[in-house]
Amino acid sequence: MSNKYTIFPIIVAALFLVLSNLPLVAAIPESVLRARHVQSPKDLRKSYDYVIVGAGTAGLTIADRLTESPKYTVLVIEHGRFWNPSDPNGDGQRAHLYNLTSMPQIGLDNRAIPLGMGFGVGGSSAVNGMAVMRGTVQDYNIWAELGNKGSTWTWKGLVPYFRKAIHFVPPDPVLASDFNITYDTQAAWGQDNDTRVYASFPGGLNPAIKIIYNGLRQAPNIPFPRDGHAGSHGVFYYPLSVNPNTRQRSYSRTGHWDGLNRPNYDIITSARATKVLLDKGNVVTGVEFIFTETGKKHTVKARKEVVVSTGAIHTPYLLQLSGIGPRGLLKRARIPVKADLPGVGANFQDHPIGPPIRFTFTNPPPPPTSNSTHLPPSEGQGQGLVADLPLPIAAPFTFSTIASSLLDQNPASFAAPGTDSSVLRGYKAQNCLLAHQMLSSTPGSLSFLHWVVGYPTAPGANPINFHITSRGTVTINPANLSAPDPVVDYRALTNPVDTDLMIAYLEFYRRFFGPEGPLAEYAAVETVPGANVTSREDLARYIRATYIPQAWHPVGTAAMMRRELGGVVDDKLRVYGTKRLRVADASVVPILPGGTTQLTVYMIGEKAADLIKETWKGKGGV
Ligand SMILES: Cc1cc2nc3c(=O)[nH]c(=O)nc-3n(C[C@H](O)[C@H](O)[C@H](O)COP(=O)(O)OP(=O)(O)OC[C@H]3O[C@@H](n4cnc5c(N)ncnc54)[C@H](O)[C@@H]3O)c2cc1C
Ligand SMILES: *[C@@H]1O[C@H](CO)[C@@H](O)[C@H](O)[C@H]1NC(C)=O
Ligand SMILES: *[C@@H]1O[C@H](CO)[C@@H](O)[C@H](O)[C@H]1NC(C)=O
Ligand SMILES: *[C@@H]1O[C@H](CO)[C@@H](O)[C@H](O)[C@H]1NC(C)=O
Ligand SMILES: *[C@@H]1O[C@H](CO)[C@@H](O)[C@H](O)[C@H]1NC(C)=O
Ligand SMILES: *[C@@H]1O[C@H](CO)[C@@H](O)[C@H](O)[C@H]1NC(C)=O
Ligand SMILES: *[C@@H]1O[C@H](CO)[C@@H](O)[C@H](O)[C@H]1NC(C)=O
Repeated sequence: MSNKYTIFPIIVAALFLVLSNLPLVAAIPESVLRARHVQSPKDLRKSYDYVIVGAGTAGLTIADRLTESPKYTVLVIEHGRFWNPSDPNGDGQRAHLYNLTSMPQIGLDNRAIPLGMGFGVGGSSAVNGMAVMRGTVQDYNIWAELGNKGSTWTWKGLVPYFRKAIHFVPPDPVLASDFNITYDTQAAWGQDNDTRVYASFPGGLNPAIKIIYNGLRQAPNIPFPRDGHAGSHGVFYYPLSVNPNTRQRSYSRTGHWDGLNRPNYDIITSARATKVLLDKGNVVTGVEFIFTETGKKHTVKARKEVVVSTGAIHTPYLLQLSGIGPRGLLKRARIPVKADLPGVGANFQDHPIGPPIRFTFTNPPPPPTSNSTHLPPSEGQGQGLVADLPLPIAAPFTFSTIASSLLDQNPASFAAPGTDSSVLRGYKAQNCLLAHQMLSSTPGSLSFLHWVVGYPTAPGANPINFHITSRGTVTINPANLSAPDPVVDYRALTNPVDTDLMIAYLEFYRRFFGPEGPLAEYAAVETVPGANVTSREDLARYIRATYIPQAWHPVGTAAMMRRELGGVVDDKLRVYGTKRLRVADASVVPILPGGTTQLTVYMIGEKAADLIKETWKGKGGV
C-alpha cells in the first residue's frame, strides 16, 4: 500500500500555507530598469504628492497606477525589505512574516492562535498560497447595502476592476479536458497587457481529485457553474497567481514595481510608520516613521494624500496610534483623540479552517490516472477544486433554523464588552444580510471550501466557513504603545451560529462519504473524529479543540460602511472625520466574500487608484 496516494500528511489547507509553492526555477535577474529604492531617509524628497504606507498587495497596485502619469510623485513606506520569494538561495518566507499570536481564545479552550501576515515588499502577496478566487454577486452587493447611498461597490460596479486586477491565462486544453475545467474568459476575466499580475493553471492536478469531482457530480442539486469567477458559485476550479511563462509566483512586486522605469516612484524600506500626521483641522500632512536600521524617527510630507495600506492587522493599529479610533481606548492609552471612530479595529473577520474529518475507503477505487503533467504528490492536494455550496444544499436539515437564530440575535450578547452602539448596529445589519444569504438557494449563498487530503484511500477535509458570524478586535495595547504589533482577538466561536455551521458541514461530509452517498461503493469508514462523535455537545467539544479561526484572510478592521453602522471609511475610501486620508487594503472589506482574498484586495487597489485620480482631476492631480 505504498503507492503515492495512500498516505498524505495531514496538512491543514496546504494551499493556504506559507510553504506551499511551485517548483522553484532560478532567480529572476533584478531588472535594471526600475523606479527608485531609497536606501536612507536622507535620500527622500522633501515632500511627495502621495504617500502610501505599506508596499503590499494593495499598496503597490495603487503606487503603480498613480505613477503612470510622470507629473506627480509617490512614496511607498515599507516596514520590511526587498526580497525575492522565488529565489531558492534567499532567506525564505519565514523571515518575511510578522510573528503574531492572538489572545487566548475563550471559545477554543483558551488556545492562542499564531498568525503571520506578509512583511516586506509585496506584502502578503509574496507569501500567500496563490489561490485566485472571488466571491459571488451577492457577496459584493451586500457591501453597497452597508455603504453610503449610491455606492458603486456592487458586483456590477466592481467587475471592471476585477478584470483590470488580474491578467487571466486559460488552462492548457489537455489539462482542461482531463479534469473538466471549464472557464468563461469573456464573462469573468481580463487580459489587459498593462496588467502584469497573472492568474494561470498549473501543469497538472492531483488525479485523485477526480474521485471527489465525480462524487459531487452524482450528488443531488450541486451547482457546477461554467466559471466560479463569473458571479455564481458551486463546484469549480480556480487558477493560481503564477506567471505562466516563468512558472514563478506573480505578485504585487513583479506586477506593480519590477521593470518600471519611473523617476516619480520611490520606495523606502526598513521604515515602520508609527503615525499618520494630521493638522488641527484633521487634514493629513504626512507620515512619521522609524527607520529600523538606525532606530531614528523621521517624517515625510504628503502634498495631496496619504493612503494607508498596511493590511487588516496593522492598519487599525496605525490609525489608533494616530488618534483615529474608539475614544475610550485612545483615552486609556493617553493618545489625543483626532477622530472618534469606534469601528477602527472592530468587525475583525477571517475565514476559519474547521476541524478535520477523515475516512478510509475499505473498498478503494483504483488510483485515477491523468494525461496532463503530474505534480509531485505533496503539491496540488485538492488544489484547484472548490465546493462552495448554498446552505440549503450543504445543510438541508438545519439551514432555516440557523438563519432564524441569526436573525433573532442581539449582537450585544456576543460582541466584545463595551462595543459601541454604532458597531452593534453594523453587526445587526450584517446578520440580516447573512441570514438572507443563508436562506437563498442561489449558488454561493453560504459555503465551505472542500478540502480533500489523502485520497483515494483515505479522503477527508477541513471545511472552511466562508461567511462567519463571530466578530473580533484588533487594537493597540493601551498599557504599552511601544509594542510593535497590535493585540489580536478573533473572538472565535463567540457566536454560536459558527459552531452550528461547522456541525452542519461535518454532517455534509458524513452524508457525502456515507452509505447513502455517491461514493457508497468504496465503503468509507470514518477515522477522525470517529463515528461515535455525534451529539451536539461532543461535536462542539471537538470543534473547540481543533478549529483554527484564520486562513490568513483577515479583513474588516477599517470597514467601508456607513458611519452610523460603525464604518471607518466612506465609499471613496476616505476616513471619516479626516481630510485627504484614505485606507485601501483588506481592512476596508466590510464582510468577507466567499473566496480567498487576494483578488478582492487587488481589485480594491485598482478602484482606489481611480478614486484618487478622480478626486484630483483638474486640481493638479494625476
Ligand atoms: C500565508 C498567507 C497565505 C494566503 N493565501 C492566500 C491564497 O492562497 N489566496 C488568496 O487569495 N489570498 C491568500 N492570502 C490572503 C491575501 O494574500 C491577503 O488578503 C492580501 O494579500 C492582503 O493585502 P493587503 O494589501 O491588505 O496587505 P499586505 O499585502 O499584507 O500588505 C501590507 C504591507 O504593509 C506593511 N506594513 C505593515 N505595517 C507597516 C507599518 N507600520 N509601516 C510600514 N509598512 C507596514 C507590511 O510589511 C506589508 O508589506 C494569504 C495570506 C497569507 C499571509
Ligand atoms: C519573524 O521571525 C523571523 C525569524 O523566525 C524573523 O526573521 C522575522 O524578521 C520576524 N518578523 C518580524 C516582522 O519581525
Ligand atoms: C485526456 O484524458 C481525458 C480523460 O481523462 C480525455 O477525455 C482527453 O481526451 C485526453 N486528452 C488528450 C489530449 O489525450
Ligand atoms: C464537464 O462539465 C460540463 C459542464 O458543467 C458537464 O456538462 C459535463 O457533464 C462534465 N463532464 C464530466 C465528465 O464530468
Ligand atoms: C496583448 O498582447 C498580445 C501579444 O502581443 C496580443 O495578442 C493581445 O491582443 C494583446 N491584448 C490586448 C487586450 O491588447
Ligand atoms: C512593551 O513592549 C516592548 C516591545 O515588545 C517590550 O520590550 C517592553 O518590555 C514592554 N513594556 C512593558 C512595560 O511591558
Ligand atoms: C469514540 O471512540 C473512541 C475510540 O474508542 C474514544 O477514544 C472516544 O473517546 C469516543 N468518543 C466519544 C465522544 O464517545
